[in-house]
Amino acid sequence: MKYGFFDQNSREYVIDRIDVPVSWTNYIGVKDLCGVFNHTAGGYLFYKSPEFHRITRFRQNGVPMDRPGHYVYVRDDDSGDYWTLSWQPVGKSPDLAKNICRHGLSYIKYQCKYSGIWGEQTLFIPLEDPVEIWDVKLRNDSDRKRRLSVFGYAEFSFHHIQIDNQNLQMSLYSSGSSHQDGIIEVDLFYEAEGFQYFTAAQQSTPAQPAANEQHGVNANAYFDCLRDAFIGPYRSETNPIAVEMGACSGSSELGGNHCGALRRVVELEPGEETRLIFLLGEGNREAGKTMRAKYSTSNGTNAFSAVDAAFTALGDFWKEKLAKLSVSTPDEGMNTMLNTWNLYQAEINVMFSRFASFIEVGGRTGLGYRDTAQDAMMIPHSNPEKSRERLVQLIKGLTSDGYGIHLFSPEWFEKQSTPAFKSPTVVPLPPKSQRIHGIADTCADDALWLIPSIVEYIRETGDLGFADEKYPYADTFDPDTGEGTSETVYDHMKRILDFSARETGPHEICKGLRADWNDCLNLGGGESAMVSFLHHWALTHFCALARRLGRDAARYEEMAAKVRQSCERELWNGSWYTRGFTASGRAIGSPDCKEGRIFMESNTWAVLSGAASPEHGKTAMDAVDQYLYTPYGLKLCDPAYSEPDDEIGFVTRVYKGIKENAAIFSHPNPWAWAAETILGRGDRAMKFYDALNPYNQNDKIEVRKIEPYMYCQFVAGPDHSAFGRGHHPFMTGSAGWSYFAATRYMLGIRPDFDSLVIDPCIPPSWPSFSVRRVWRNAIYNITVENPHGISKGVKECRLNGQAVTCGSAGAEIPAQNAGSEHHVVVVMCD
Ligand code: GLC
Repeated sequence: MKYGFFDQNSREYVIDRIDVPVSWTNYIGVKDLCGVFNHTAGGYLFYKSPEFHRITRFRQNGVPMDRPGHYVYVRDDDSGDYWTLSWQPVGKSPDLAKNICRHGLSYIKYQCKYSGIWGEQTLFIPLEDPVEIWDVKLRNDSDRKRRLSVFGYAEFSFHHIQIDNQNLQMSLYSSGSSHQDGIIEVDLFYEAEGFQYFTAAQQSTPAQPAANEQHGVNANAYFDCLRDAFIGPYRSETNPIAVEMGACSGSSELGGNHCGALRRVVELEPGEETRLIFLLGEGNREAGKTMRAKYSTSNGTNAFSAVDAAFTALGDFWKEKLAKLSVSTPDEGMNTMLNTWNLYQAEINVMFSRFASFIEVGGRTGLGYRDTAQDAMMIPHSNPEKSRERLVQLIKGLTSDGYGIHLFSPEWFEKQSTPAFKSPTVVPLPPKSQRIHGIADTCADDALWLIPSIVEYIRETGDLGFADEKYPYADTFDPDTGEGTSETVYDHMKRILDFSARETGPHEICKGLRADWNDCLNLGGGESAMVSFLHHWALTHFCALARRLGRDAARYEEMAAKVRQSCERELWNGSWYTRGFTASGRAIGSPDCKEGRIFMESNTWAVLSGAASPEHGKTAMDAVDQYLYTPYGLKLCDPAYSEPDDEIGFVTRVYKGIKENAAIFSHPNPWAWAAETILGRGDRAMKFYDALNPYNQNDKIEVRKIEPYMYCQFVAGPDHSAFGRGHHPFMTGSAGWSYFAATRYMLGIRPDFDSLVIDPCIPPSWPSFSVRRVWRNAIYNITVENPHGISKGVKECRLNGQAVTCGSAGAEIPAQNAGSEHHVVVVMCD
């Protein structure tokens, strides 16, 4: 069953059957102001932090589903009938109202046709201003004149999520609202600059709000600052008293729950169209005034040319990013994901980290070390500045022992200025003892991810100097002076590698500590194959960088050889690669285990890290296909655990087929695609790719339930009653990894320090594909021809007609001058 389609021209996902089974979300804003909204305008807005600076309220996991939101009500002032442009919360029957939601890149359009009125509400945030614009258009498609009231409505929050949920005794009495000059201002009196505003502007001078004497309401009141006055007792957003009566009550108060509710009156002749905007922003009334003036600037006949210009600029922002790499392959699902949705999702992950969604609702924020390190690796071509910013934050979050702080706020490692007034909502800086955890609480994989991320950043940008920039270690940092023991990025990397070499167990495999990538495998002093393989991967990246910098990496080359030997000796079990050992020495993920016999991580990483021999690698990945493949992607492990076993960890306490316990966990799936390309099996890589691709589930929503344009954290596995149902969309490492594995391994376009490598591994049935890649400001138009129907191997390559050397590692195109454009033809072997 389908609820919508991919509109390739507009790069929108269009939901044309609005009653989707669960919220389908999208993000607006690309800088400091960000909103998460679903297909019915439910959701919330925050400024910089969803935990400490939540602007609008959200009753997560509630009933009715996912409210409140940023709503536009339209009321027919002749009949008294009313509806919302976003379908909910009024929710007219789909037999009477036709609602469409268009999820675009950092904007959402809600369109509605009801009772002869066509309406549209677009939500977006301009690139440069912390203001959310609700761009509303209405057209009278009926044959009679219509008198309408339009209400914009949003409910404010008390900023700090805990105060919002728990400490009402403070917030309820220290926040106030007022209306003046057509601007509602909410003042969180307990904060130095705790202001928000809501205002509106209309295309033509509005008629005064019509009197509504029979209801006894104030004819001139076209605003409400108090939520409870607008909604009314024993009511909800579905039937607010103000909308029902056709007039607001002019409420405001010092204290209480505040909202932005503004009523505008519209009169439309048949065929006539009008436009108005609502602005919801960060700052006080003055800021609101400035923004209203700016965005109601007209240009001749267009009353809102500034809004249109901001919307176009946002479109260009994404166009430019997406143009850094665009592909044309015989797989339409792959094209759609790589050219639009996959990169978009990966970018949003880096912009807003992982803690603002409808699942993670902002109560736990900061940077997760491993997630951020991986996310940052995926977008250095489309967002090098943000990638670098994240890398530096992580480098500063590394201890001198060489492990990363698992969850931290970048502010902890920046110089603090003493605030003039310490409000309860100021982001707290925990004492140093609580910022730096010990080894037992360390995730053994966290910092290892940083090394490939740094090296990939350098390969993309050519910024070799980054390796020699100096940053302090987290445990030596003093926030008062802003100083600590500083060393180069290169030295930080060495400390990470040394930590993993030191923290090994009796089999000379890295200890699992609190967890490895698999958060639910809590091995403590037991050992983790995943970490040893990751150690090897990090070592190969580091050694490549060292060689390029002309530095002696012999010690780390020896270390890598030793890791390879221990892995092969201890982890190859004759059938596949063992996942690890518990503290008491029991093997996990080996053929002798009753449950958890085989895991994806150890096998994919054995190959991906370059540690496995090709024969063992092939056998191991055949076992992955045999035991873990499902039509919706690869399961994490098999068989699922059914009995708690605390020596293994939390994975044994999660229900079968859910999350890490044998669900189709999306994040490691791309590791299998990459591993298969290393083994040269393009068909197998594509089979795995297609199984996970949400695009291919667009017509299976009765099973998948969630968004078909986003990868999700996991899909319930065959052991679960809801096999195939997706969970936790959008904020997941699956986004970045899908993009990375598909572009760098399957299509095989990989930047190196001085050349662009082209080394594809594709299904033999593909006759050709092409890629446009912008690398260091030069454009490469690459065509790969596969005349003999093979998977891997490059025979010849021409750069603008000139032969380029090809080897077993593919073609290597030397970096070309910035500003130049080139034609590259690659022919695969016979
Ligand atoms: C979640 C976590 C991530 C972890 C994964 C597997 O996605 O955010 O850090 O690696 O689960 O447990």
